[in-house]
Amino acid sequence: MATIRDVAKLAGISVSTVSRYLNKSGYVNAETELNIKNAIDKLNYQPSVVARGLAGKNTKTIALLLPDITNPFFPELARAVEDVATIYGYTVIFCNTDGQVGKEKKYIDALKSKNIDGIIFASNTLGQEDVDKLASFNIPYVCLDRAPTNGTCSVVRSNDLEGGKLAVQHLLDSGCKKIGHIYGPQDLITAKERLIGYEESVRVYDWFSPSLMVPGDFGIEGGKKATEILMKRHPDIDAIFAGNDLMAFGALKVLHRMGIKVPEQVAVIGYDGINMTEITEPELTTIAQPTYDMGALVSRILIKKIEGDIEEDQIHVLDIKLISRDSTRRRG
Ligand code: RIB
Repeated sequence: MATIRDVAKLAGISVSTVSRYLNKSGYVNAETELNIKNAIDKLNYQPSVVARGLAGKNTKTIALLLPDITNPFFPELARAVEDVATIYGYTVIFCNTDGQVGKEKKYIDALKSKNIDGIIFASNTLGQEDVDKLASFNIPYVCLDRAPTNGTCSVVRSNDLEGGKLAVQHLLDSGCKKIGHIYGPQDLITAKERLIGYEESVRVYDWFSPSLMVPGDFGIEGGKKATEILMKRHPDIDAIFAGNDLMAFGALKVLHRMGIKVPEQVAVIGYDGINMTEITEPELTTIAQPTYDMGALVSRILIKKIEGDIEEDQIHVLDIKLISRDSTRRRG
């Protein structure tokens, strides 16, 4: 049975160009399109969903690659992916990549050997080599959250830029006068856009200085260390915007240890809206991502793709919302 590689070879073009033509996910000029059509006819090539069906290889199984299963944000995402997959009769294999390129590549090969029907990437290490491999394996895929937006697939994300701005505006509306930001790893588009949202919102104020922005690692320990640095640099700040809830937990811990009252002396806001924000003391104000909706939508898009409903690839950006709680409630 001819593969997409055979089509590309006969047409004298790359696998990713053939994949773009088949998925209608980007421009292909008329001459190239004709060459591809002639090659498909000559080889009697069957695209993935038919090929897999003919070969009796439909496994009704999809995979979700996650970058960090220890962060509660991702299990909440996975819950939605699985709920929707179950409705369509699919099972889900969860893979933890630890954000490592090598681990991700191993998973792609392992999943291919299990005749996976499709893959959702919530990690950010998907490279062109992976894209070509998935095309040659005829494995449909979609991207989620921190995924690369290099236009090779449909992506579901939330509006991180607006979320960063909303976090700052809420602190200003609460009466805060000098706001620091603990940001996540800048190789992640999610962290980068939140930082941009913060900076665009505060650079107009005379109190702003780049030293008010401190790097974290999207974890509790990183949040603690960044808070210590921030408070040492600027003991006069009265608010901290943490780029995710786990780093905000670290900030609450260090401020408590320093005898600093939240929110009276320093207000704290996080980002993600994980359930644990309801049990901290004080309860954490956060910018909640539409986590369940993101997982449900991306699962639906992938399954439609597997079953032959080839939509134009697009980036779906969902709205975030403010959940205001006691960690930013200023008195007076
Ligand atoms: O908390 C983990 C972070 O990584 C979330 O903000 C999510 O958007 C992902 O990028």
